[in-house]
Parts: sequence; C-alpha cells; structure tokens
Amino acid sequence: MEVPAETYREGEFTLARWQFADVPELVAAVIGSLEHIGPWLIWATGGYTTEDGAEFLRHSRENWRRGQTYDFALHVDGSIAGAIGLMTREGGVEIGYWLARGFTGRGLMTRAVALLTAEAFRLGAGYVEIKHDERNVRSGAVPARLGFTKVGEAPMEPPWAPSCAGTYHVWRLTPPCSAPAAP
Ligand SMILES: CC(C)(COP(=O)(O)OP(=O)(O)OC[C@H]1O[C@@H](n2cnc3c(N)ncnc32)[C@H](O)[C@@H]1OP(=O)(O)O)[C@@H](O)C(=O)NCCC(=O)NCCS
Repeated sequence: MEVPAETYREGEFTLARWQFADVPELVAAVIGSLEHIGPWLIWATGGYTTEDGAEFLRHSRENWRRGQTYDFALHVDGSIAGAIGLMTREGGVEIGYWLARGFTGRGLMTRAVALLTAEAFRLGAGYVEIKHDERNVRSGAVPARLGFTKVGEAPMEPPWAPSCAGTYHVWRLTPPCSAPAAP
C-alpha cells in the first residue's frame, strides 16, 4: 500500500498524523476514558502516563517511517476525540481504533473507518481487516455497519484486557470490483 496523506478532513472531524505536541492531550484523553477503553485495550488497563504517551508517539513515528503503521489522532472541534490506525499486513491492512469519553454514539468511528477504508483501497490495499474480542460488541458493530464480512475467529495472544474472552472475531472488506477492461 502507498503511504497515506498526513491529514484527512470530513464533516465534523479531522484525522491527523500524531505529533509529539499531542502527548499531553493524548494522555488526558486516555486517562479520561480508562473506564470504557481499559476493559478492552490491554495498554489502557493499568493507567496511562506521559511516558506511555511519548513512547506511543515515538513508536508511531518510527512505524510510519518504516511503512508499518499509520496512526492518526481523530480531532473534533480541535480536541482529540480518539485514535485510529492503519497497520499494514501481507496484501492488505488492519484498522484499530478507540474513542474518548464523550465522543461515542454519534457515528464518528464508523465514518472514520469508512474514510480510511476507502483510502486504503485507493492506495492499493487488497483488503481491510478489523479484529475485536468476541465480547466487544460495540467494536464489532463498526465493521458490521460498513458491510464488512465476518470471515473467522482467531485466538488472542495473552495477556488480554479484563473484559476480553481471548477470541478475536475477524472481519474483512475487499475493494469494489474494478470495471472490466474494454475489448
Ligand atoms: C469501539 C468504539 C470506538 C465504538 O464506538 P461507537 O460510539 O459505538 O462507534 P461510532 O462512533 O461509529 O458510533 C456508532 C453509533 O452512532 C450512531 N450513528 C449516528 N450517526 C451515525 C453515522 N452518520 N454513521 C454511523 N453511525 C452513526 C450509530 O447508530 C451508533 O449508535 P448506537 O450507539 O446506538 O449503536 C468505542 O466503543 C470504544 O472506544 N471502545 C473502547 C475501545 C475499543 O474497544 N476499541 C476497539 C478494540 S478492537
């Protein structure tokens, strides 16, 4: 897949490649959201420090440079409302996400995933995959809403976050068929 742009704007939200200056706001957003993201995301189960935020951004910057992961902050009205990342896989890409407290329930993540899915296809990804724990119904509702197909299940590497059962549900979408070549 080709390298995505660093910023996308759509309606009320913007996706912007993480900057080091985002660390304080990222940490505040995660800490304010631990109650609903901690049960599902292992990195958010034991609190979240400035060093955790800085380490995430260091990895993010390095992984972007290597073409492995393209991580974006989701901004609404100038505030960090969540995060979404494209992780390159053999022949395709996986998308991961979380929303901050106060920003769920209004379609932000579904629309952000739709945007990056279309962009991943435009940039050459052969499929987009989303994986979530079988108990994480709200996460699974995102690919379901966008017409992804549930293609299987897979064991999660331990340790997993406290509300997880340890089994991924795996969803995939492939690019729309291109028009047949003219005779
Ligand atoms: C997973 C997570 C991001 C989903 O958040 P969400 O708020 O359910 O998702 P969306 O932002 O797409 O919002 C969907 C809701 O907005 C509604 N909605 C409103 N306008 C919409 C629109 N234009 N498009 C789509 N949905 C819309 C949907 O009907 C849905 O409503 P519901 O809550 O009554 O079901 C959130 O639950 C989260 O951060 N969880 C913790 C972290 C996590 O589990 N991450 C994933 C790990 S695999």
